[in-house]
Amino acid sequence: MDTLDTLKAETLATIASANDSAALEEVRVAVMGKKGSITALMGDMRNLSPDERKARGAALNAVKTAVEAAIEGRRGELKTIELERRLASERIDVTLAPRPETQGRIHPISQTVDEMVAIFAAMGFTVAEGPDIETDFNNFTALNIPPEHPARQMHDTFYLPPSAEGAARVLRTHTSPVQIRTMLKNKPPIRIIAPGRTYRSDYDQTHTPVFHQIEGLVIGEDIHMGHLKGCILEFCRAFFQIDDLPIRFRPSFFPFTEPSAEVDIGCSRKGGELKLGNHGDWLEIMGSGMVHPKVLENCGIDSTKYQGFAFGMGIERVAMLKYGIPDLRSFFDADLRWLRHYGFVPLDQPNLAQGLSR
Ligand code: PHE
Repeated sequence: MDTLDTLKAETLATIASANDSAALEEVRVAVMGKKGSITALMGDMRNLSPDERKARGAALNAVKTAVEAAIEGRRGELKTIELERRLASERIDVTLAPRPETQGRIHPISQTVDEMVAIFAAMGFTVAEGPDIETDFNNFTALNIPPEHPARQMHDTFYLPPSAEGAARVLRTHTSPVQIRTMLKNKPPIRIIAPGRTYRSDYDQTHTPVFHQIEGLVIGEDIHMGHLKGCILEFCRAFFQIDDLPIRFRPSFFPFTEPSAEVDIGCSRKGGELKLGNHGDWLEIMGSGMVHPKVLENCGIDSTKYQGFAFGMGIERVAMLKYGIPDLRSFFDADLRWLRHYGFVPLDQPNLAQGLSR
């Protein structure tokens, strides 16, 4: 075998054994690059006679063509091999069990708020918010509770030092100031709910200094108590998941609604056990009423043109009823065993189609 055949055989063998495109490129340069072995042999032809050059040129070209073809072929093979290698290295096993540390639970308060938002969103309500630190004006005065009004005493208010501008401030005692904020900012029609933290200086079996409420406010040109009743009935049946749950409106008093009504839902207390449903007994769950004309006027809304209804409900209270949680104070203990028991799995998002909670 002459040297040309040897070179060809050796080169083809290296090409065949090149393991990746970088190795293949190395072979190509070593043979056909500027200083490559075949390139050098081509250069040597200068010294040959024309006849010799012709024969030698043909032989060299044949080797070059064979080498080029081999490189092309190997390049194609390597492409497939490298793709497979990459797919194998980037493979994700989606059947792996979730990481054991993802054991967090949604707190029953958050779950309850999410459920309420899902129900009211389906009725066209949007969620509004306000700050925990409120002006005395928004929390009381604008809601038709002037200074010296006896209703202020009932709220066990936490008072704060006045703001830089001298405005009296409080920790909001209810979510009703969000009504004021909403009506000062937006023109009717208005349809909002406002869930959030509220504060009263009170602590016993059924009261904690921090608790949660959800407020509802609807303002329009022809809103009446029938709308309030339908809205609350729809909500209560969806929330407690009892299709024939009865509700009852009982006359009451709030300075910011006229008329005002306390809402009761049906229940039974037989054998000392509380059970919700159409059983003849009643349980109070929220305050409500038609927004007082003075409140509308305090927010620059023409009370001869617009009316509306509002309601407010304690979130812990209805969460305890729905989920059978016996002790109010346990909501705020941050006890992991309690949370594991009463908490909800994060991926079970409440929605009306799939069911609010499972
Ligand atoms: N803000 C009242 C409370 O805290 C509840 C309420 C809200 C009543 C809206 C009527 C209308 O008790």
